[in-house]
Amino acid sequence: MTQATETLPETIATEDELDEVMTRPSAALKAFIRTLRGPLVVLGAGGKMGPSLCVRACRAADEAGHGLEVVAVSRFSDQAARAGLDARGVRTLACDLMDRKALRDLPDAENVIYLVGMKFGTQQNPARTWAVNTLVPAYVAERYPASRIVALSTGNVYALSPVVGGGSMETDALTPLGEYANAAVARERIFEYGSQQAGTPLVLVRLNYAVDLRYGVLVDLARKVATGAPIDVTMGHFNCIWQGDANDMILRSLDLAASPPMPLNLTGPQVLSVRDVARRQGALMARPVHFVGLEAETALLSDSARACAALGAPPTPLDAMLRWTAHWIERGGPTLDKPTHFEVRDGQY
Ligand SMILES: NC(=O)c1ccc[n+]([C@@H]2O[C@H](COP(=O)([O-])OP(=O)(O)OC[C@H]3O[C@@H](n4cnc5c(N)ncnc54)[C@H](OP(=O)(O)O)[C@@H]3O)[C@@H](O)[C@H]2O)c1
Repeated sequence: MTQATETLPETIATEDELDEVMTRPSAALKAFIRTLRGPLVVLGAGGKMGPSLCVRACRAADEAGHGLEVVAVSRFSDQAARAGLDARGVRTLACDLMDRKALRDLPDAENVIYLVGMKFGTQQNPARTWAVNTLVPAYVAERYPASRIVALSTGNVYALSPVVGGGSMETDALTPLGEYANAAVARERIFEYGSQQAGTPLVLVRLNYAVDLRYGVLVDLARKVATGAPIDVTMGHFNCIWQGDANDMILRSLDLAASPPMPLNLTGPQVLSVRDVARRQGALMARPVHFVGLEAETALLSDSARACAALGAPPTPLDAMLRWTAHWIERGGPTLDKPTHFEVRDGQY
């Protein structure tokens, strides 16, 4: 057992407790953060991952006794996210990154984390999805040609792969279904082009799926278990990673930035079965679980061996994530009400 897992709580009861666990930096991050010269700029920081990523970076720097300024940039449609960051010592800058001129006023930075993305609502407005996922990367590549950039991508850049194969590897073809996933491929290619042009050191982080207690695949399943709703097992398998571990690894992956870019699958090391996970949640909540459909032979899966070799395996065990989620949902803990739609197989979001 690692030091991190020894100190994990049995349950998490409040958002304050959740944020404490979610932003607790690893020893490896505290050592790495000392190598960064500020400011660390985080673009698209106002969404689901950005706030806890920024606070983790600040905590790591504080605990390492290293004065690092963390700058969170977003439109901050969610003002509460901005207030929470301000309160934790993160400098916040409101900016619409679709406004190319506004980017000029952002601080120069040796290190940039890029979190901007658009997925849901693609069916209603595909043009917007393509614009957000291609224009903003082009502007950012132009604004930060000499910075190390870790750009978030998604496991959706791959086609569904055979469950028995253990998931797509970074060298596999990027031939997914649907406009969102293809716009996500374009997001990568635009950054890659910028790196070709300017030599920008870059990591393309293909994440699936981050698990928080307020959203994520485990929350989606736990809510169905709690309400007795039937669970369709056609998309029968998935990978996931505790969002805190994902954020820790995203920050440390700055060290892997290179030109040509380094693609990196970021998720847990196991292929998880929807049926198995839901049954375990049912047992934790003492509820019967209802299934429909049959497991397909393919699923959206990534092989995270490269990330585990480079950065270490994510330390938070599935048992803890399942226990925390079941307890949180049973007690009516707050959720974002943003389903992942992980069960989608035709690429339509
Ligand atoms: N969470 C996951 O499980 C997961 C899985 C796979 C991939 N990813 C990728 O990881 C990244 C971060 O994930 P996330 O869940 O935090 O995404 P998210 O909730 O969508 O957050 C991204 C944030 O970017 C900001 N943004 C969008 N357009 C902007 C603009 N024009 N100017 C400035 N800011 C803008 C938005 O905040 P404002 O409204 O404040 O501007 C948005 O909330 C995304 O790119 C996503 O594709 C996440």
